[in-house]
Amino acid sequence: MIKVAPSILSADFCALGDDITQVQAGGADYLHVDVMDGVFVPNISIGIPVVKSVRKHTDMFLDVHLMITKPHRYVEQFCHAGADLVVFHVEADEPQDVLSVIDTVRRCGKKVGLAVKPKTPAEVVYPYLALLDLVLVMTVEPGFGGQKFMADMLPKIQALRNHIDQNQLDCELEVDGGIDINTSPLVKSAGANVLVAGSAVFNQHDRAAAIQAIREA
Ligand code: DX5
Ligand code: ZN
Repeated sequence: MIKVAPSILSADFCALGDDITQVQAGGADYLHVDVMDGVFVPNISIGIPVVKSVRKHTDMFLDVHLMITKPHRYVEQFCHAGADLVVFHVEADEPQDVLSVIDTVRRCGKKVGLAVKPKTPAEVVYPYLALLDLVLVMTVEPGFGGQKFMADMLPKIQALRNHIDQNQLDCELEVDGGIDINTSPLVKSAGANVLVAGSAVFNQHDRAAAIQAIREA
């Protein structure tokens, strides 16, 4: 089953509630929320108060993607704000803190995921996979919507799919960046099962059609 996770980074923040209602009605599986601190990535987006407001507005599954340095400082607050899944970057903390973030999110009763930037090899997350609900492969350099898909990430997706299947792990495989009707078939055949899409959903007038097209492409 392929899941589509529209990223609100490409939504209209003055009409965020309406945009969320549209993608929910349009069959989105997760709502992807991009949090950026201007340090881990060269952009600043949204944070805890917005997650709280979104939580009040919708019962959608909130997939919160933290692009922040030293996430151990804030994960608990994101859990309490209403995240269902907290995804943080393996590059953003020391190895011992990676384990403690996983533990903290679990103790909050939420799902936990680990993300890898394009230059980080798949092997870096292998030791954590059995502890995770999801692994996220960035298919652009994190920081901005609307960038071009990096086809050279396909072998990394395939390697993680093989590792997950061979070890019979209960871990979803998400991709993020440049996903549209042209790249969706590539990542699906490489083994991704959760597809984040920002501009390819929110830049279309008919969000339901856009979501369906990405899922079925
Ligand atoms: C980028 C974010 C993405 C972004 C994707 O750093 O993590 O979630 O919104 O945007 P598109 O789908 O437009 O590439
Ligand atoms: Zn994202």
